[in-house]
Formats: sequence, C-alpha cells, structure tokens
Amino acid sequence: MNMAMERLFCFYFLFFPAMRLVNCVQPVDKAEEQIPTDKLLVLTVATQETDGFLRFMQSANYFKYNVKVLGMGEEWTGGDVGRSIGGGQKVRLLKEAMESLADQEDLIVLSVDSYDVIFAGGPEELLKKFKQANHKVLFSADGLIWPDKSLADKYPFVRSGKRFLNSGGIIGYALNVNKLVQQWDLDDTDDDQLFYTKIYVDPLQRENLNMTLDHRCMIFQNLNGAVDEVLLKFGTERVRVRNSAYDSLPIVVHGNGYTKMYLNFLGNYIPHAWNYENGCSVCDQDMVDLSQVKEYPSITVGVFIEQPTPFLPEFFQRLLSLDYPKDKLTVFIHNNEVYHEKHIQKFWEENKNTFRSFKVVGPEEMLSQGEARNMGMDTCRQDSGCDYYFSIDADVVLTNQQTLKLLVEQNRKIIGPLVTRHGKLWSNFWGALSMDGYYARSEDFNDIVHGKRVGVWNIPYMAHIYLIKGETLRKELKERNHFILEKLDPDMALCRNARELTIHREKDSPSPESFHMLRPPKGIFMYITNRHEFGRIISTANYNTTHYNNDLWQIYENPVDWKQKYIHPNYTRIFTENLAEEPCPDVFWFPVLSVKACDEIIEEMENYGVWSGGKNKDKRITGGYETVPTDDIHMSQIGYEKEWLHFIREFISPVTLKVYSGYYTKAFALLNFVVKYSPERQAFLRPHHDTSTFTINIALNNKGTDFQGGGCRFHRYNCSVDSPRKGWSFMHPGRLTHLHEGLPTTKGIRYIAVSFIDP
Ligand SMILES: *[C@@H]1O[C@H](CO)[C@@H](O)[C@H](O)[C@H]1NC(C)=O
Ligand SMILES: *[C@@H]1O[C@H](CO)[C@@H](O)[C@H](O)[C@H]1NC(C)=O
Ligand SMILES: *[C@@H]1O[C@H](CO)[C@@H](O)[C@H](O)[C@H]1NC(C)=O
Ligand SMILES: *[C@@H]1O[C@H](CO)[C@@H](O)[C@H](O)[C@H]1NC(C)=O
Repeated sequence: MNMAMERLFCFYFLFFPAMRLVNCVQPVDKAEEQIPTDKLLVLTVATQETDGFLRFMQSANYFKYNVKVLGMGEEWTGGDVGRSIGGGQKVRLLKEAMESLADQEDLIVLSVDSYDVIFAGGPEELLKKFKQANHKVLFSADGLIWPDKSLADKYPFVRSGKRFLNSGGIIGYALNVNKLVQQWDLDDTDDDQLFYTKIYVDPLQRENLNMTLDHRCMIFQNLNGAVDEVLLKFGTERVRVRNSAYDSLPIVVHGNGYTKMYLNFLGNYIPHAWNYENGCSVCDQDMVDLSQVKEYPSITVGVFIEQPTPFLPEFFQRLLSLDYPKDKLTVFIHNNEVYHEKHIQKFWEENKNTFRSFKVVGPEEMLSQGEARNMGMDTCRQDSGCDYYFSIDADVVLTNQQTLKLLVEQNRKIIGPLVTRHGKLWSNFWGALSMDGYYARSEDFNDIVHGKRVGVWNIPYMAHIYLIKGETLRKELKERNHFILEKLDPDMALCRNARELTIHREKDSPSPESFHMLRPPKGIFMYITNRHEFGRIISTANYNTTHYNNDLWQIYENPVDWKQKYIHPNYTRIFTENLAEEPCPDVFWFPVLSVKACDEIIEEMENYGVWSGGKNKDKRITGGYETVPTDDIHMSQIGYEKEWLHFIREFISPVTLKVYSGYYTKAFALLNFVVKYSPERQAFLRPHHDTSTFTINIALNNKGTDFQGGGCRFHRYNCSVDSPRKGWSFMHPGRLTHLHEGLPTTKGIRYIAVSFIDP
C-alpha cells in the first residue's frame, strides 16, 4: 500500500466513522504483508526417483510449489543418513545451487529432504509463518540432539519448544542461506547436521546470519521422538497433521530417523490422499488399463502350502477360475506336506498343460519356508519375461476372480489385496507400527479391515498374498537377502504379541514359525488395497488330518468354507422361496447336504468299514438291544458326533422352526448314524416308530445310478416317497402318527444318514 492509497483510505474512514478506525491509526503492519509465492523456491536433493521422492513431488505439485531437484542421477555418496554420519553431499549440492541464486535478494529458499518428507500445507501459509518467525534463516527443530551430544550446553536456552537443530528443513533468504552454505569445505560423507549445528551454536554467526530454529513446529515437523505429539486432523478438503504439544499445524512433515513407517501412515492421508468426505483421491493415479494393452503381462504364481491346510482342492479350483489368460501364468508350487501330495497330484494331472509352465517342489526337498519363498521369487526374478510375481499361500480363499487384473492395474511395486479371517479382526497386514517393531497406534486398522476406509494403503507389514513387479525384483530387490522372509525375529514376535493383546486376542493365531511377513525393503512402498472385496484367510489351526476326508471336521474352525463345500447350494431357498416340499402329511423334504458332503460321508464310513450288520444285540446303545436294527455305523464311531450335532443345530433347527411353526429344537440327539441298505445284506426296514420327537433322514446317494428301489412309506397316510434325492432330507415326527418303513433296495447300495432328534 503506497502513501497515496493509505491517505485515501484514511479519508474514507474519516467520513464513515462506523468503520474500524484502527486501520488508519495503525497502518498495515509489515509482518502482515504477504511475500509473493513466486519468491519461493524449494530445493531438494534426490539422487533417485524413489517412491518417497515421488510422494514428495505429488504433495509439492498439489500445493503448486516450485521445486528444483538437485543431484538427480548422481550417485549417492552422502553415507547412510539416519543410521550413521553423512549427508555432506546434500550441503555440497545446495552450496553449488546457491551460488547462482544468491544474487536474487528477495528470493526465499526452502531446502528440505524429499525421500521422507510430505507437504501438508501450501506456499502462502509457509511464507506467512516464515515472516512471523522474524528471522532470515529458520531451521527445523528437534527434541533430540544429533550427532554430537556434547554440543548441548552451547545451545541457547528455550523456554518452550524443541531446542536442537535438525538439518532436514531450512528456510531462509537466498543471500543468508548462501552465506551459510558457502562455509562448507568438507567431504560428501561428512555430516551436514553437525556442520549446521556448529554454525548455529556460534552466537556471532547466529546473529550475523540472523538464524533461529522453528522451536514450536510452526513449519517443520520432525517425527523422530515426536510421534506422540502428532495427530491427523481431517478437513473437508485436506488432511493435515496437528502438533498437539504446540497446537500448531506444521507444513513440512519429515519422517526422520526411525519414523519412516509412521510417515507412511500419515502419507495415506495428508495432504489429500484420503478423507471422510471424498474417500481416496489418489487411488486412480497411475493406473494401468488392461483393456488397452496388446498383451497381458506374464505372471509367475508362487503357491505355498506350508502346513496342512483345509479346503486345498477348492483352493486349486479358485486358482483355475482366476480371470487371467492361463498361457500368461507360470505356476510354482511349494508343498511342505506329504498329506497334500494327493491333492497336488490331481491338480497337476488335470492342469499340467493349462499354464505356460508348471513346477512343483515337494516335501522331499526339505526346504525351509524362507528358502521355498526365495525359490518361488527367483523363478520370476531370473526370467526376464516375468512381469509380475504373485505369491499366494494356500490358506487364502481368493473369492474375487478379478484379483490378478485388479492388482496389476493398480500399478504398484508391491501390492497385496486385503484378506481377513471371517468374523475376526485378523488380516494379512499390520497397520502403523513403530520402527522398532512394536505395535504402535493403528487408529485406522479396524476401519480398513472393516472397509470403512477404502483405498490403497502404504503399510509396514503384510503376508499371505501379494504381487511384486518383476522389474522391482530384478532391480531394487535383486539381492534376495534384502527381502525379509526369514523366520520372524524375536522383536516381531513380541510385536505380534503386543498387537494381539492390544486389539484382539486370538487363541489360534499361527505360530511365529509359520507366520512369514513381508517387510518393505528400503525405499520401496508396500501397499494393501481394500478397494474391492478379495476374499478371506482360513484357519489352519486344529486341522486334524487323521481322518479320510478331513475337511468334514472343519465345521467349527472354518464355518464359511465348510458351508460352501458341504451345504446344498439350494438350501437357503427353503427360507427365501419356501423350497421345502411336503410329500406326505407332516413329512417335509428339503435340500441340505451338497453332493460333496454325501460322497465324503459315505467314503468316511466305508473307510471305517465296521458296519453293525443289523443285529438286535448292539453294544453301542444303552440297554444293548435294538428292536428295529439297521446295518449302520454311528457318527460317534468315526468321531463325528460333535460336528454332526453342530450341523443339526446350524442347518436343521432353522428348518424345523419354519415347517413345524415355532418348534424350537436344541438338537439333542443320541442316535446319529449312516445306514447301508443292499439286497445282499439288509434291504429294507420293517414298520416302526422312532425314539425321537422328529427324525431326519438324508439320502446320501442317487436312485437309478447307485441303487434301485428304496424310499420310505408312512402307513397312517398310505403315502410313500419312493424317489429319494441325493442330499435331500426328510423330516418327520418320530412317534405316534408316523409309523413308517424303509422300502426294499432291490439293486446296488443305498446310504442314508439318520438322526433321532429330541428323543
Ligand atoms: C533478523 O531479521 C528480522 C527481519 O527479517 C529483523 O527484524 C531482525 O531485527 C533481525 N535480527 C537481527 C538480530 O538482526
Ligand atoms: C485327530 O483325530 C483323531 C481321530 O479322531 C484323534 O484320535 C486325535 O486325538 C485327533 N487329534 C487332535 C490333535 O485333535
Ligand atoms: C437348485 O435349484 C435350481 C432351480 O430349481 C435347479 O435348477 C438346480 O439344479 C438346483 N441345484 C442343485 C445343485 O440341485
Ligand atoms: C394306498 O394307496 C394305493 C395307491 O396309492 C392304493 O392302491 C391303495 O388302495 C391304498 N390303500 C389304502 C388302504 O387306502
């Protein structure tokens, strides 16, 4: 505002005294004058376009910062910053760059790291805060002193705020910054922070250069040692971090030291990656459109069967039904279990020519899990034609047939689909962890698992299923040891325990040895997506493989998969479409068991093989005498009674409730058995009542193909049902009204499963 204008304004206010006079009395304070944003230049050193660098640039572009990148393509010689001394290369590059900038008197430069920095605010706000700081050079501040602790006494005292200098962020007038960095005459491997610190703790230099620190995190937030101070602050457009110790909204968020993972967590939100109003705003960036490609990428699929795993044949079926050209798939299977060799043999015989190639490594190779996983990964790494490596454990139930396409299209170096354990807060990734391996705040874990926050999430650990670019394996991950697949180290086990104690306790969580997690190698981001429903993880705990068809026993441990495999596909239509029929009065007839269930129950019984022979004397029942004996095997004899009763409670009770309006059964049944009828042994059963309130009688095989004859006749109603349907059950009252008989089986063998319920 020039003098003439000021006068004009005063004139105006004098004539309109209701207006605030203060404007006239105190002409606009200099500090409130905005520095134009075109006077700001961001300088950052990056020798490679790491994922962190790209994230930095995304946030910079979002706020329209003018960024100049120094050192790109140069070899990094500045040491291992964060673990040891180093970073001199950064000062040298800044010094070189400043030489040509120093003559721009009103230029302001912001020098920040980029691999581990995200902008949470824009240039206007930055410049305003810089102005308010009233110094020519402002450094970011740290609560921790590094690298020379002996310099602590030389630091000026501060009443409130962080006391020590951190070289990760500098803002200042080009002239002053230049004077500062021209003092550098050390090596690339020398320490940048020590260099700046020595200048800062010198009172004379501090005054001459007009330097101070951003003690209260107005601009710079270093996360190291400050993770507990920093919270996400959701807005309708943007997400920021708030420093709760100083009640500030820092602009440059720096994941220094061991806080990279926490920065990754924050980066899932700030500056605009995800918020409540708009959901994920960055998920569609850089996608690949597979409908536009000439040829689908080649994928090596590594399958890992590391422990006895229920529902393995179903796993293979789902693998086959993935919607992806099979000639683009190379299959590598590691099977650690002799028990599963029969399943793999079958899959191999049926599909050895389905895929581009197919390799199985069996238990005889005695590979450790880590070795096996490295071998699978090598299959892709060493094949320059392998575009992606897809690793999947046999306990993953991949229900989304589009999974491979969806993951490829998301175009990340490492990405996994979210899969969870049914009904439990248990999934294949971990949320925020502190770098030392302990469970840290994971405020979004539940929301991600439950799909309340949907997006593509940068996460610290995952397991069970993921896709890695072949190129990444051949470049960043070419040394296989860099990839963390070995046994869980004690820290991680501790971490897992801590996590489980904190968010949930699970009795059956896998043992550390069987729990192989993937940790992002340095500089590579690892993502999990929950943008789609992908599937679940089954429990491999309590899988007893001593039976013939072991999945039958999984009704408790994996109820969803059990139901899918063993319950008739039309079962639910009993309730939705009144599917139950009533062929005779109060005799209901409905589908309940799948073909698989019927077959496996028969196999299980024949495998046991000790049929009773239909004798009256029966040691298995109380009293030892059966008046109307059948040729049968009790469920209890094959150790299946508990599971069978659970099946009755889960799947028969609801039908009873429906057809005998309101009869509620606790499904108590002493006699549960499979009967075998054949013309050679026992062909029929004479008329009788059952010792039950009601009886179920499930046909386990097919009339016509498996046997002739059979059926059931109810005398009082002169009514027979003589074409039993496989998997369908009769349900009828046991006593008084429903005297019935088993009609003769004239040819073949007929099997039925019977329970006398509520005796
Ligand atoms: C530092 O610079 C500010 C303005 O940029 C000025 O007001 C202040 O007096 C200077 N301090 C010293 C010690 O020179
Ligand atoms: C597995 O089943 C067999 C046969 O029913 C039984 O004897 C055994 O105790 C079971 N093992 C476990 C670990 O439950
Ligand atoms: C389920 O019902 C439909 C329609 O009645 C029928 O076409 C289908 O075959 C049934 N499924 C089975 C497995 O019986
Ligand atoms: C029973 O039904 C059959 C045909 O369904 C019929 O021939 C017979 O006469 C009936 N018997 C009685 C006692 O009603």
